[in-house]
Amino acid sequence: MACFLTSAFLLALQTYAAPAEFVQASFAMTQDSMDLDPDLPSNISEEVTSSPPPGTKKQIPQSIIIGVRKGGTRALLEMLDIHPDVAAAATEITIEKTPGYFTSALAPERIRAMNSSIKLLLILRDPTERVISDYTQVYFNRLENHKPVQAIENLLVRNGALNTRYKAIQRSMYDIHMRNWLQHFSLEQIHIVDGNALIQDPLPELQKVERFLNLPPRIISSNFYFNQTKGFYCIRSDGRERCLHESKGRPHPTVNSTVLQQLRSYLHEHNRTFFRLVKRTFDWQ
Ligand SMILES: *[C@@H]1O[C@H](CO)[C@@H](O)[C@H](O)[C@H]1NC(C)=O
Ligand SMILES: *[C@@H]1O[C@H](CO)[C@@H](O)[C@H](O)[C@H]1NC(C)=O
Ligand SMILES: *[C@@H]1O[C@H](CO)[C@@H](O)[C@H](O)[C@H]1NC(C)=O
Ligand SMILES: *[C@@H]1O[C@H](CO)[C@@H](O)[C@H](O)[C@H]1NC(C)=O
Ligand SMILES: *[C@@H]1O[C@H](CO)[C@@H](O)[C@H](O)[C@H]1NC(C)=O
Repeated sequence: MACFLTSAFLLALQTYAAPAEFVQASFAMTQDSMDLDPDLPSNISEEVTSSPPPGTKKQIPQSIIIGVRKGGTRALLEMLDIHPDVAAAATEITIEKTPGYFTSALAPERIRAMNSSIKLLLILRDPTERVISDYTQVYFNRLENHKPVQAIENLLVRNGALNTRYKAIQRSMYDIHMRNWLQHFSLEQIHIVDGNALIQDPLPELQKVERFLNLPPRIISSNFYFNQTKGFYCIRSDGRERCLHESKGRPHPTVNSTVLQQLRSYLHEHNRTFFRLVKRTFDWQ
């Protein structure tokens, strides 16, 4: 049977008028590689549907990777694909990945309506790093599409102050998004994967996910090998080898240190609130 991992949308998401608040839905993301331009109107919302792989029936997932965009969602999905119960039909569990959900205002309610006991996976990384990665992806997308690009500082700063309406910054305000999810789901239903830890040492993070999903432990250390050239782990399973071809090859810009410091101290507060909400801290720089 075909692979059950899917980044398809399974919810019928309706176009709606988002409130004029700064945290709004962006339902368009089915892949990391599809990113919203930072200067799209903030009320934009799109509907995406996708067909299941041929020969399979569309399934309600048992678990959804809800985000965060540029947090390592693809890496997590690829690594969970190692697990036989995730990939095989017999005792399969279905995992969907939709990085845009985490920052979407309406996704929690909709997902709860679909399956209130669903297990949610959330992968987060250092919020400052995430902003830069988000910018970098949009930057290269725009270059490829022959659209004008801006220096990151021009987006981060407006009239001398940090531009907190910049979407890449808004998506890194993890506390705001998390509060919304916790209105619809219990904390126990949301497992947070530390994206920085996953990239540095995948196995322990994946073992926590196996336990969370009640899967037998099947992912082992020999499923990974470190590629010195790339500087990160590659996956070995079922006699196949694959290296994550994330946008990692793309160099991140060097951000003006004053601006970077402004960004860090702003996100610092959000990050403290977030740690209180999830009763856990992360070793983000
Ligand atoms: C967004 O809002 C602007 C002005 O508030 C309006 O002109 C535009 O049509 C809206 N766009 C969408 C996609 O709703
Ligand atoms: C809802 O999610 C739970 C947890 O993954 C799963 O056990 C259950 O089968 C799901 N329900 C439906 C109707 O898919
Ligand atoms: C390691 O990465 C390099 C550079 O991308 C690649 O050419 C090489 O094939 C990789 N080696 C292994 C063993 O995967
Ligand atoms: C960084 O930006 C500030 C203004 O925000 C400017 O005064 C400073 O010269 C810049 N520093 C560098 C190293 O470019
Ligand atoms: C997040 O908060 C922790 C603890 O307060 C702090 O050490 C860290 O620098 C913060 N990270 C960012 C990106 O603000």
